[in-house]
Amino acid sequence: MPDSAETLQRTGGRELTRIVYDEKTIAARVAEMGQEIAGAYEPDEPLLVLGLLKGSFIFLSDLVRHIPRPLHVDFIVASSYGSGTTTSGHVNLLYDPSISLENKHIVLVEDIVDSGTTLSRLVPMLEERGPLSLEICTLLHKHIAANLIREPRWVGFDAPHEFLIGYGLDHSEDFRNLPFIGSLKHDS
Ligand code: PRP
Repeated sequence: MPDSAETLQRTGGRELTRIVYDEKTIAARVAEMGQEIAGAYEPDEPLLVLGLLKGSFIFLSDLVRHIPRPLHVDFIVASSYGSGTTTSGHVNLLYDPSISLENKHIVLVEDIVDSGTTLSRLVPMLEERGPLSLEICTLLHKHIAANLIREPRWVGFDAPHEFLIGYGLDHSEDFRNLPFIGSLKHDS
C-alpha cells in the first residue's frame, strides 16, 4: 500500500516499505512492559532506569510513566553507527553517568538490539561498577546477534530484519520523531 500523504509529510517524502508498529500497538506494549518491570522489584528496592541515547529517548520517556513506583533516571550516550545503515562495529561512549551504580538495581533501556555490539561493550562496563543487578529492557530485538553477551529480560517486539526508523530510531539522524516505527524503503 502506498504511503499516506500524512506519512510522506512526516518523512519529507522518503518512502516506507510499511508501518511495522503503529502508535497504538507501541503504546499498549510499552504500558505492559512498565507493569512488568514494576512487578520485578520490591517496592523499597532502589531502581535506576538507565537510558541509552539517543535511540531510547522516546521509549524511555513513555516507559517510565508506566512504572508505578519510585525510580531514578539517567542516561548513557553511545553511538555505533555512522551515517550508513550497517553497524560500524565500534561503540563510542559520548556521555557516561558519573553517579554511583552501587546498591542500585539497574534497568538498561535500549531501543533496539541489532548486532549486539553496543551491549557487548556496555554490559561489562556497567557490571564493573557493582550494581545490585543489571537487566536489559529493549523495545525491539532482531535476534541476529551472534553470542549476545546478555539476553534482554524485557523485549517489546521481536523485530523483522529490516531497517527500522521512528519512535527514536534514526537513519542519519532523520526520522526519530515519527510516532510509529516503519521500515525504510531502500533508495532506488
Ligand atoms: C543504535 C540503537 C542501539 C544500537 C543497536 O544506536 O539505538 O543502541 O544501535 O545496535 P547494535 O546491537 O548493533 O549495537 P546508534 O549507535 O545508531 O546510536 P543512536 O542511539 O544515537 O541512534
